[in-house]
Amino acid sequence: MKILEGPLLSQLTTLRLGGTAIAEIRLECADDYGALPDVIRRFGGIPHALGGGSNLLVRDGDLPFLLLRPGRQADGSEPQRTGEDQEAAFVRADAGIPLPRLVSWCARMGLSGLEGLAGVPGHLGGAIAMNAGAYGCSTAPLVTRLAAYTPEQGLRILGPSAWECSYRHFSFLEPCSWSLIAWAELRLVKSTPDAVRSAIHANLTQKKQSQPITENTAGCIFKNPEQNSAGRLLDAAGVKDLRKGAFHFSRKHANFLVHDTGCGVLGTFEDAISLIQAAQERVHGLFGIELEREVIVWA
Ligand code: EPU
Repeated sequence: MKILEGPLLSQLTTLRLGGTAIAEIRLECADDYGALPDVIRRFGGIPHALGGGSNLLVRDGDLPFLLLRPGRQADGSEPQRTGEDQEAAFVRADAGIPLPRLVSWCARMGLSGLEGLAGVPGHLGGAIAMNAGAYGCSTAPLVTRLAAYTPEQGLRILGPSAWECSYRHFSFLEPCSWSLIAWAELRLVKSTPDAVRSAIHANLTQKKQSQPITENTAGCIFKNPEQNSAGRLLDAAGVKDLRKGAFHFSRKHANFLVHDTGCGVLGTFEDAISLIQAAQERVHGLFGIELEREVIVWA
């Protein structure tokens, strides 16, 4: 276990926003999970699972949060094949593995399933916890087993009957105060490196054309309403012309809030939230549709 005191959320989130947490606890082996209750008691604060910080909007200032992060395969160790059937291979990866590393490993191995997530800067654990998806791929349906820690049950290995998932939603069926995914096993279809690489390339090309991938964002702010597109509604509501402090909505895609860290104004949580609310109100006023936030807010 590694403990870093006073981590800055603005350095741990892709929106580059957020204050100072109590500590960051990196869990590297099963024993570390056993020691977790004592560590949480020692530091106090509210435990929060943190992956790549790519879907998070965090308050400024001193935060009463304890950040829990599964080991990142920082030793360079690779995902492991745990078995196979005729069509697919089963692959176990640490929840802390960055998606870009996992996706390029899959390309080298010729394993298909995650190509849609190319270019997403999150970690595997977070991608499962929110059932991240893009270009026809969703993370949670690929999971065949996972190890999850809850304060109520400790660290356990669970199968798909233990959770439910839908569009941008994943939750364990058994109630728990919070949970942290330690590793997951995915079922990935056997393909060829060339086929997987070309699917990744096609998705990345589309993503570069339609999303502000070089800016500080937290991905899409709102979920798509059923049979509708949040981006299209926001665009039609004129949110691309709104600005508050260092925040504005992307000209490329109206569902992306951009933190312009180079504009000379300090970006604040209040500005980001009030801009999001203004956008929500505009869409509601014009179309009568209540957009639901996809981005997770730690306030
Ligand atoms: N559109 C506009 N104006 C805009 C943006 C989009 O008119 O400013 C229109 C597009 O022209 C298109 C429609 O809205 O007709 C949908 O846009 P797009 O194809 O970009 O897809 P999306 O529904 O906005 C979803 C996911 C993305 C994912 C892409 C690709 C959600 C909320 N968003 O975007 O996921 O990458 O599809 O599969 O489900 C995320 O969840 O953070 C995310 C980025």
